[in-house]
Amino acid sequence: MKTIIIYYSESGNTRQVAKTLSSLLSTDLTEIKDIKSRIGFSGKISSAIDAFRENKTETIPPKVELKDYGLVYFGTPTWANNASPAIITIIDKCDLQGKDVVLFATMNGSGGISAINRMKEKVESRGARVVESFVIKTKNKNVSQIKKDSENIAKLLDLRLYL
Ligand SMILES: Cc1cc2nc3c(=O)[nH]c(=O)nc-3n(C[C@H](O)[C@H](O)[C@H](O)COP(=O)(O)O)c2cc1C
Repeated sequence: MKTIIIYYSESGNTRQVAKTLSSLLSTDLTEIKDIKSRIGFSGKISSAIDAFRENKTETIPPKVELKDYGLVYFGTPTWANNASPAIITIIDKCDLQGKDVVLFATMNGSGGISAINRMKEKVESRGARVVESFVIKTKNKNVSQIKKDSENIAKLLDLRLYL
């Protein structure tokens, strides 16, 4: 069975983690796009409210077919101590029965664990088993630092073990 990394990224940090892990672990990779505009100050405020309330959003793709995959990664930025609406929306449409799942979140400084815990509840209620999870701090880090952190985490947690 194959492995897929499914992620949402608004400003590129989570994308960098997902891409690094995907090339390191030779997995498939799917980016989820959010149709709702998240631009500017008002976009950030409404994004935080949407995440806090777990408002659903429209995504591209609207769904991800997982029948070929045994291991599924979900990655998200932390928004208002929660996962992003795009990732919550996708998780709530996935058939995760019998799947192993790895969860990850990026964050400025806090709330990543709550985001992971909420995703954990969601994926477990859809039949998955969470085998690993991790949070990466991105504040004041450039792309190459985030790449290095992702490589270190993959090594530290021995993520190859679950492939
Ligand atoms: C609407 C919004 C809410 C956020 N809320 C939090 C938060 O609660 N805790 C935190 O540490 N960082 C928070 N952040 C920062 C992001 O989680 C962090 O910059 C993340 O790495 C962004 O990932 P991305 O570049 O993949 O979008 C927030 C960012 C946005 C835009």
